Amino acid sequence: MRSSGAIAVALSVLALLGQALAFKANEFKTCSQSSFCQRLRNVPPEHKFVLRSDTVAADETGFVTAKIAVVGESAEGLYHDDLDFALAAYGDGVVRLKVSQPGRFEVPEVLMDDLKQVPLVSVSKTGSQQTLEFLDSKVVLTFDPIKVEVYGNKKSTSPTVVFNENGLFDFERQRKPGGASGSESWPETFGSHSDSRPNGPMGLSIDVHFPGVSHVFGIPERATAFSLKPTKELSSKGHTLHEPYRLYNLDVFEYLHDHPFGLYGSIPFITAKKSGSTSGAFWLNAAEMYVDVRKGGEGTSTQWVSESGVVDLFFFVGPEPKDVTRQYAAMTGTTQMPQLFSLGYHQCRWNYKDEEDVASVDRNFDLHGIPCDVIWLDIEHTDGKRYMTWDKAHFPTPEKMQGALEEKGRKMVTIVDPHIKKDDSYPVFKEASGKGYFVKKKDGTDFDGWCWPGSSMYLDMLDPEIRKWWATLFVPQAYKGSTESLYIWNDMNEPSVFNGPEITMHKDNLHHGGVEHREVHNIYGYLYHMATADGLVYRGQKSKAKPSDRAFVLSRAFFSGTQRVGPIWTGDNTADWDHLRVSIPMCLTLGVSGLTFSGADVGGFFGNPDTELLTRWYQLGIFYPFFRAHAHIDTKRREPWVHGEETMSRIRSAIQLRYSLMPYLYTLFHQAHKDGTPVMRPIWYEFPNQEAAYSTQDAFLFGQALLVSPVLEPGAKSVRVSLPGDDLWYDLLGEDVHDAKVSPSVDVAVTMDSIPVHLRGGTIVPRRMRPRRNTKAMTHDPYTIVVALDKVQEARGSVYVDDGSSFDYKEKRKFLRSTFVFKHYRLENDVYHNGLYFSNASTMVEKIVVRGLTKKISAIDAGRMTIKYFECTQDKSGLWTLVIKKPGLSLTENWSLKMRGH
Ligand code: NOJ
Repeated sequence: MRSSGAIAVALSVLALLGQALAFKANEFKTCSQSSFCQRLRNVPPEHKFVLRSDTVAADETGFVTAKIAVVGESAEGLYHDDLDFALAAYGDGVVRLKVSQPGRFEVPEVLMDDLKQVPLVSVSKTGSQQTLEFLDSKVVLTFDPIKVEVYGNKKSTSPTVVFNENGLFDFERQRKPGGASGSESWPETFGSHSDSRPNGPMGLSIDVHFPGVSHVFGIPERATAFSLKPTKELSSKGHTLHEPYRLYNLDVFEYLHDHPFGLYGSIPFITAKKSGSTSGAFWLNAAEMYVDVRKGGEGTSTQWVSESGVVDLFFFVGPEPKDVTRQYAAMTGTTQMPQLFSLGYHQCRWNYKDEEDVASVDRNFDLHGIPCDVIWLDIEHTDGKRYMTWDKAHFPTPEKMQGALEEKGRKMVTIVDPHIKKDDSYPVFKEASGKGYFVKKKDGTDFDGWCWPGSSMYLDMLDPEIRKWWATLFVPQAYKGSTESLYIWNDMNEPSVFNGPEITMHKDNLHHGGVEHREVHNIYGYLYHMATADGLVYRGQKSKAKPSDRAFVLSRAFFSGTQRVGPIWTGDNTADWDHLRVSIPMCLTLGVSGLTFSGADVGGFFGNPDTELLTRWYQLGIFYPFFRAHAHIDTKRREPWVHGEETMSRIRSAIQLRYSLMPYLYTLFHQAHKDGTPVMRPIWYEFPNQEAAYSTQDAFLFGQALLVSPVLEPGAKSVRVSLPGDDLWYDLLGEDVHDAKVSPSVDVAVTMDSIPVHLRGGTIVPRRMRPRRNTKAMTHDPYTIVVALDKVQEARGSVYVDDGSSFDYKEKRKFLRSTFVFKHYRLENDVYHNGLYFSNASTMVEKIVVRGLTKKISAIDAGRMTIKYFECTQDKSGLWTLVIKKPGLSLTENWSLKMRGH
């Protein structure tokens, strides 16, 4: 037996190891270490902001403009400055409020080009207030001190959202260094780094209040609760301040699973929810930012402080969740329509060692009948981390390797990071350096930072010319050894700089036009991602071999607008149950913040999951919009077949379930592409008045029809499933049916084979049930239409189909949309397609399943057709399930099936 002393020693060694490897909080700043956060957080401004009523006027661009008088007293005496104020309204329910000053930086490339402005009409004005109306909404301006109230409904007496309710709006005056009031020294140090802050304090604070709201969501990215916890609490003793939420894109090593800390990406957008209303606010500002949340009887108040830039604030009045996501998408764009293959399973690892390793992984998928669409190569595949090159010893024939995958319908993804190895023999470096394309230090010389290749330089992605140049590098003539079935992974684009402050770039570095890095930090990764995706589109345009296809580029860093470019993943998580659990609020948060195409590393990046955790992660991961397994270089191999037959067959069933739902998933993505509706949705998105579900983060909806209640605890024998609404829910993989009105929550027994997934009564889900090796192999497979009836024996759904890769859906309207309605025992299909493109053969319906019938169907009348093969069976709940086999119907045609029975 081991002595307790030995165990103690072992434990302390483990603890030390844990510490050495764990998240290092001291590498990153807190609010108390950022001077602007200290100056502005929870501090009323030292001067007064008055909207000058005499200056309010409508300008020819549709903005209502005015001046804000800033009145105060400094050590130099009284001062009186002016700020520019502007107000605009867009489409239904969006109000934009700008406060700026000439010379301040405004964020480019995020807003859509075609914003549809609507006139704001002044309807009344008093000495203290002015009211403006647009469509159904109104805005009330209070002059002294400035306050802006936005009402979703003109007739309402209570505003939806209020600017400056708590008087915390601030706009720091530009000062001269060392002035009498300047007790603060301008250079700011953190660890061994010094930020010269040549412009001194330029901070901003905005104050956004949501009356009556108790839950707010958004401002990713962080690993924390979905419904954001308060960071500021008021009691009789005063304020208690917890660490505010930070938005500053950083490469955080071993991030914690419950922390307000900002991770790799930032979306300064918040959604506020109360019964009967959903609203939101977005601040277009890419500098470092902190957000406080305070909840109280009167609603939820937020304070946002940013280091620089301007106030460019958008309010969204909803009222439904889908309205807020649509309104936000109208400003910043919707999800890129993805290639079908990218919704399949992605197999990644740092690293697949060589071509034989790749071939063997590929072979094993087929050997074991596990679907897989993409195999990924991490940084080791390159020649010394010179991206877009190959390690010749291990990858001597990259085109052949990609060709072998492509023959089976699989793609390859390689990693391309933004740090460029400083090496004159590396053509990318040489050209960029010759052209002066790198980010500069404050003294104007090229900035040199440390990353994977050692000494590296960083392309200045703020410059459109440099982005354009970068986009030309992905054609096979430039990216030697690449083929047109190769796609890209952008990592480390926060940007990560190993020897920089907080593992990133110095804020006083300089970009195109002399813009400081501090102004653009949070969009750097987005601009890089955008240029890479443009590169793949450009490659397609130059290709003689195949029509131009949609880009696929995964990014780690992101900002508002990233949804238009491609997916992101949640970075370096850990193989433990906490990280499995937190992946749900992380993806839900991204989804309601416009960036639905996301997923966590399945299995966990750091560490070695046991087979139970790995299996549960796959069972959840198949419902991430982006589904990729990935692992750190030091981990043991864990491809689906590594842990033996039993685990493999469970993982295979999970992956096959995702593939069987591919027509539904693709249709959900098309919806996201149309209007920003997220694929993975919180319960409240579909059931907006179900207050008990506002903070739910252990279950979610996959589209409108599927409720996923994953197993999130080791050793679970059952899962408590809360069923929203008051209608029926069908066990997707079994026979059970539950009435949410009778049993709003049920204990569902689980084995290791699956997790509870319920199909919502009233929905119709298109599926393809034949197990295949990848999405391409499913191209000609017939469809199964699953109809889940609600209590009044009705259901609705649709399927969207296009070629899965080209732009023809947009440029030539080559797509098919079938809308299904089940009503009065009639199932009807109403189809749009442009005739030329879809053959009947690839759109046949091989099976129709109708669940939840209250009567037994004995005859089906299909007009000209006769339906011969069907059966109707009764389940233990007394409801009937009808299965129609080979009905001889195609999705390309309108049809109507009338069912008779008793
Ligand atoms: C960090 C990324 O987050 C991780 O996924 C990747 O494997 C490593 N960089 C190496 O490229």
